[in-house]
Amino acid sequence: MIHKHSDYMHWAKTQSRARYNLATSGVGPFPLDELPDLPALEINGDNSYGYPPLKQAIAEKHGVDPDCVVTAFGTSMANYLAFATMLAPGDEVLLERPTYGLIVDALRYIGATLIPIQRRRESGWALDLDEILLAITPKTKLIVITNLHNPSSVLTPEPVLEGLGEIARESGARVLVDEVYLDAVYENTPRTSFHLGPEFVVTSSLTKLYGVSGLRCGWIFAQPDLARAVWRLNDLFAATHVFPAEMLSLAVLQNLPLVRDRARRIVETDREVLAEFLDRESAVDAVRTDWGTTSFLRLLRGNADAFLETLRAAHDTSAVPGRFFGAPDHLRIGMGVNSDMFAEGLRRLSLHLRNHVQ
Ligand SMILES: Cc1ncc(COP(=O)(O)O)c(C=O)c1O
Repeated sequence: MIHKHSDYMHWAKTQSRARYNLATSGVGPFPLDELPDLPALEINGDNSYGYPPLKQAIAEKHGVDPDCVVTAFGTSMANYLAFATMLAPGDEVLLERPTYGLIVDALRYIGATLIPIQRRRESGWALDLDEILLAITPKTKLIVITNLHNPSSVLTPEPVLEGLGEIARESGARVLVDEVYLDAVYENTPRTSFHLGPEFVVTSSLTKLYGVSGLRCGWIFAQPDLARAVWRLNDLFAATHVFPAEMLSLAVLQNLPLVRDRARRIVETDREVLAEFLDRESAVDAVRTDWGTTSFLRLLRGNADAFLETLRAAHDTSAVPGRFFGAPDHLRIGMGVNSDMFAEGLRRLSLHLRNHVQ
């Protein structure tokens, strides 16, 4: 049976909402009327293989050749197109765990054979290159990670990425790095891992960290041959992009410092509240990070699913069950939407921890 759905996405769309919604992963909406220099929009334009000025702006921001840029509907479609171009059913893929659920679902839909590479909480959710070296085989086509890691927001530093690239290169495999959260490193933002070698393929978007998810501005960085193959595959599905969305995406990229600063203020306010929460709570623990919009909390006692159900019922507060990431004793909370809501959500989470976890 071909896998054709995502339990996580269905849950996110139908059950994640609550008055105090901690089940988010991205920054709250950026209002269109706060975007300066709005372009005169057009419905149709020259965008057969992406709107050239948008591709150019994405390429310039990352110091990448525009021939290596493929635009896509969000990071989800970017991931799917990259996977489907590189893989055939039965190909082996090493995939980090805990994992963002949609990556698992897309790979299962393609029919890849998934080999988990465990990030361990005790090691700060770091990638273990020795374990990857043991797991890789001549049949491995791809290693897939997220950076920052979703759900923990842990940053994989460049030397580890270089080691990963070396392992892949020696085995004739590629590395796909989903960098949708990387720009949440607000100081000394790491460069894209695409610069680390031809075995790297990168996906990302404007959807999570800037509050402009509705534009669905995503992209893939791949070597020109592979990029051309991705464009050709995309012809089957999306043919062309939505031109006015591409124009607006370009306007966002041209004003990125403003959009990013607004997001940063909210995320940093929330992170201070999160630090106070983690200092005072002994019923949960988390690997603390300097950056990122999510935090992955381990519930030290009790069942996380049952805890989250009663949290919602008693306190109108939601968080993402860790089972969606393959870590059922955890829950993921999100920063960056609304600081009053976040603080009140954490206050309610504290109350519930006190009352319901013995
Ligand atoms: C690691 C990761 N990749 C991709 C996505 C999907 O992003 P998009 O909304 O751009 O499709 C998400 C969304 O939460 C994510 O966390």
